[in-house]
Amino acid sequence: MPNSLIAVFPGSFDPPTNGHLDLIARGARIANHLIVAVLQNTQKNALFTTAERSEMLKECVAHLPNVEIDSFDGLLVDYAAHRHAHIILRGIRTISDYETESQMALLNHRMRPETETIFLTASAEHTFLSSRMVKEIITLGGDASPFVPEPVMRQLRGRFPTAKR
Ligand code: PNS
Repeated sequence: MPNSLIAVFPGSFDPPTNGHLDLIARGARIANHLIVAVLQNTQKNALFTTAERSEMLKECVAHLPNVEIDSFDGLLVDYAAHRHAHIILRGIRTISDYETESQMALLNHRMRPETETIFLTASAEHTFLSSRMVKEIITLGGDASPFVPEPVMRQLRGRFPTAKR
């Protein structure tokens, strides 16, 4: 049993939202070391590159000394093994999240039994929030500023100069 708890918080983070940041801050209070692992670009319709997402996240977590930003491709359990992490941290907002997340957790556990997935319930004010909705709001000219941290909003304004602010 490791005496230093290393956890991985994986995701697409395209873009990071206030919901992600809330989970990262809470995860950083649980783990000794929290690795936020950005899934390397696989989607054709991604808004930001892996490097851009990582840079935004670094700025957002600069005040959290035990949080590291990294990226990965391939299987999450292989990445977790490579980083000596025994915990995968994921957030759950809704029942439909629970369905997909529990399936993923079971598969990951079957592939690497040393890895446990821990779920954090999304904070009430973020249960309706997703990167996909943020993208939809901003591409349709709406104001995404209530939903994303300032470093992310700055990048979004750069991409969508005509969006509301
Ligand atoms: O933010 P997302 O898009 O909900 O994150 C999904 C993510 C990155 C956690 C998931 O797609 C993933 O782990 N991908 C890596 C490939 C993998 O291990 N797939 C098998 C999971 S059963």
